[in-house]
Amino acid sequence: MMKKLMILGAGIYQVPLIQQAKKMGLYTIVVSYPGDYPGFALADQVCLLDTRDQERVMEAAQKEKIDGICTSGTDVAVRTIGYVCEHMGLHGLSCEAARCVTDKLLMKEAFARHDVSTPQFVKVADLDQARQAALRLGYPLVVKAVDSSGSRGVVIVQEPGQLGAAFSEAMQVSQKGYVLAEEYIQAEEIGVDGFVKEGRLVFFAPHEKYLFRAAQAAVPAGHSFPYLCADGQLEEIRRQMQRAVDATGLDGCPVNADVLVDKEKVWIIEIGGRTGATCIPELISLYYGSSFYEKMILNALGEEVQFGGSSGVPCKGRLLMSPVDGTITRIAEEKLDGLRRQGIEVVLDFSVGQRVQAMKNGTDRIGHVIARAETEDEFLAIYRQVQSCIWINGEELSQLEDGKG
Ligand SMILES: Nc1ncnc2c1ncn2[C@@H]1O[C@H](COP(=O)(O)OP(=O)(O)OP(=O)(O)O)[C@@H](O)[C@H]1O
Ligand SMILES: [Mg+2]
Repeated sequence: MMKKLMILGAGIYQVPLIQQAKKMGLYTIVVSYPGDYPGFALADQVCLLDTRDQERVMEAAQKEKIDGICTSGTDVAVRTIGYVCEHMGLHGLSCEAARCVTDKLLMKEAFARHDVSTPQFVKVADLDQARQAALRLGYPLVVKAVDSSGSRGVVIVQEPGQLGAAFSEAMQVSQKGYVLAEEYIQAEEIGVDGFVKEGRLVFFAPHEKYLFRAAQAAVPAGHSFPYLCADGQLEEIRRQMQRAVDATGLDGCPVNADVLVDKEKVWIIEIGGRTGATCIPELISLYYGSSFYEKMILNALGEEVQFGGSSGVPCKGRLLMSPVDGTITRIAEEKLDGLRRQGIEVVLDFSVGQRVQAMKNGTDRIGHVIARAETEDEFLAIYRQVQSCIWINGEELSQLEDGKG
């Protein structure tokens, strides 16, 4: 009988997961609240539910007798996955681990208990406590909501005059009555993805992060494999990642972490129980030579997942973004197809006539470009060629960007 896979989310970051599931001959049930989401059209069955509504998603999962449940690129549905897996005996992370990695205070407390290297932190429930924390941590410091993602409610505070506003902003985003104050670490930020099997980090993939400076915050807008560093450094990153896995109890799932690196010293900012977004699974697939989406799905079905070595060919991916609000007025399809024939992956989320928004965060992407490239310059040349195939408000995207930037 055809196996049934439930996928939480119908957005751009779940589309490749749904497509892969179809390719594997699975019956796909896609869960999302109503909206204009591209995943609906691909699914065998659509469940119009809030992916955070654990009880109702489980009811649907039990009714359909699903064989597995997963998502990619988002933290929003992770607790529901833990809940459904645990109650239905499916393969995936536990409720407890899911709870831990989606609450930054619980996560930091777990890190502290397991001696994971992480920026120092203090729980803060009012402005007075924030001031006390600042005395201990010093400036700059970071104030952040504990139950949010996508850098919402994360504020870097340079000096005492900014503390009040930062505290209010973080509190506003949070559902809880407190936030975190953290020591600010000035270091290189990388991403680390991986896979945990029987408590062991059996796959370990550090990568460089490309941050796009939007008005409010730095938004992750691309990644690059491999991350080149000294062997000792790599071992320390792996060691701290394994500790973070032990601390949070993440198991039977992919992981994605934000990590700061300064020579031999490594700090884990946070770890999540799912893959990263912004081209990460695509780049892992390309660099390690087999579909990472397939591995996520096999894992969710409780089947054996194998991880191979790398192809050794460096590759990079980056979001396509619009610097302005506007309409796509032209796409040079033939030229794009030419680039695709050269092995460059170009995905456009919109077509001619559709409205796009100026880039403020990762959901404002208009597409992405993935290519094998040894150097940043080599990749940028390819990226510019793709940009020159897209017109917004009658202007070429590459020129629009020059005008703005
Ligand atoms: N203690 C810190 N020191 C230095 N930089 C930090 C620190 N905490 C957070 N940051 C910066 O802020 C970003 C967002 O923080 P964090 O990952 O905790 O929030 P988030 O809401 O989960 O964001 P995202 O979903 O984008 O990862 C980090 O990727 C990092 O660039
Ligand atoms: Mg983060």
